[in-house]
Amino acid sequence: MAAHFGMIGLGTMGRNLLLNVADHGYEVCGYDPNVDQQKRLLAEAGELKVTAAESLPEFLSHLATPRIIMLLVPAGKIVDSVLNELMPLVEKGDIIIDGGNTHFTDTDRRYDMLQSSGVHFIGMGVSGGEEGARRGPSMMPGGNIESYELVKEILEAIAAKSDEGPCVAYMGNKAAGHYTKMVHNGIEYAMMQLISEIYAVLKKAGELSNNELHLAFDAWNKAELQSFLVEITAAVFKQKDPETGNDLVDMILDKAKQKGTGMWTSQNAMDLNVPLPTIDIAVTMRYISALKDQRVSNSRLYNLPESVTPIEKELLITLSKSALHFGFLIAYAQGLHLLKVASEAYNYAIPLPEVVKIWKGGCIIRSAMLGDLRKAYVDDNNLANIISSPVFQPLFASLRNDVKQVLAIALENDIPVAALSSALHYFDAITSEKLSANLIQAQRDFFGAHTYERIDKPGVFHTEWEG
Ligand code: 6PG
Repeated sequence: MAAHFGMIGLGTMGRNLLLNVADHGYEVCGYDPNVDQQKRLLAEAGELKVTAAESLPEFLSHLATPRIIMLLVPAGKIVDSVLNELMPLVEKGDIIIDGGNTHFTDTDRRYDMLQSSGVHFIGMGVSGGEEGARRGPSMMPGGNIESYELVKEILEAIAAKSDEGPCVAYMGNKAAGHYTKMVHNGIEYAMMQLISEIYAVLKKAGELSNNELHLAFDAWNKAELQSFLVEITAAVFKQKDPETGNDLVDMILDKAKQKGTGMWTSQNAMDLNVPLPTIDIAVTMRYISALKDQRVSNSRLYNLPESVTPIEKELLITLSKSALHFGFLIAYAQGLHLLKVASEAYNYAIPLPEVVKIWKGGCIIRSAMLGDLRKAYVDDNNLANIISSPVFQPLFASLRNDVKQVLAIALENDIPVAALSSALHYFDAITSEKLSANLIQAQRDFFGAHTYERIDKPGVFHTEWEG
């Protein structure tokens, strides 16, 4: 058998993606040094045309040429060691796809390294988790357009489908695909943090039960807020803990973990001077959540009042819906702004209308809002920030007041809502003709002679400040 597609790394993601390829009529082969994973693949394959190789040379011998080899191994050094093993065995024209959550600088380096070998290298973000990999992920491949053309047919077959077709498209040069996936994850962190803050407001200020929370999120998922994350949140509130019979969400420790992709987004945004405070704060709140011991002991020192100002549930649900809508849009706005700047800074040439199109299905941040985002970028593919798009102006204007009310309720009830407030402050600042940075310039010139510009004439000025 000459397989059309090979997978190195048969963890859940690798196995599921490979079976997805096989579902579409392709012959596939998998390799993993762990024999148990090979066995698992074959057990799950059923009647599909799937083989598992016991060694890398055997794996390569199973593949039709040019070989399409995807790696789904943990990002980092393991990718380098697999590439080192692979390179002497592959041939010019073969295609290697790294499908992990790889840092874009590693992909740029590996892409450059493989250039002279004549082997195609595609860095591809894959989103949608285990289920997405099996049934249809959103995929963000970057590299050479010629390389992408060689794998396009298979990727389009296995991708999630939205009303606009397969959720995969060429994302641009070199590490553009992994960069886009990193930003996707930054947006994912922000959306998750916003949902968790709204959960806190509804639970504490609105005293909603888990069943009422389920009903609210479920209803939201049927309207403007329709999205994967709102959908699974509704389901979370219904889940029982088989051990205790309690609602499972109440049994889960409030310490959020992370693998670093949200942090990478914030770090790189800082390098590129792009403001994305809602993503920053989402990363930071995961850090604060992790400081459980400190939080517990500090809570005893300050003993903030537990009192709640009663608020009518239906009103709070309505306001919260608008607040989440506003927050989600700001998360997209910040992430897409970073993508635009990075695309220019790194010569990635990332097509933003295509990005929002392939995020419409399969990925974790998919939502009904992406329809309007798509429209905004199709109307103006040079859009710097969706805040200035006519598609969104009326919406931002109408939601803003409800956000303020939710923030006031949160403040009144001592509920930290750092992401939601950052979203409003970001919006207010980026739509302000005048900010207070004139004072910062005065201070800089005062203590460091850093100079300032004036509002009434061009040039650079310095003052010998008194005092
Ligand atoms: C996806 C996700 C996925 C990510 C997890 C966990 O698009 O399918 O982004 O790639 O690894 O969401 O991320 P954290 O462990 O950092 O929360």
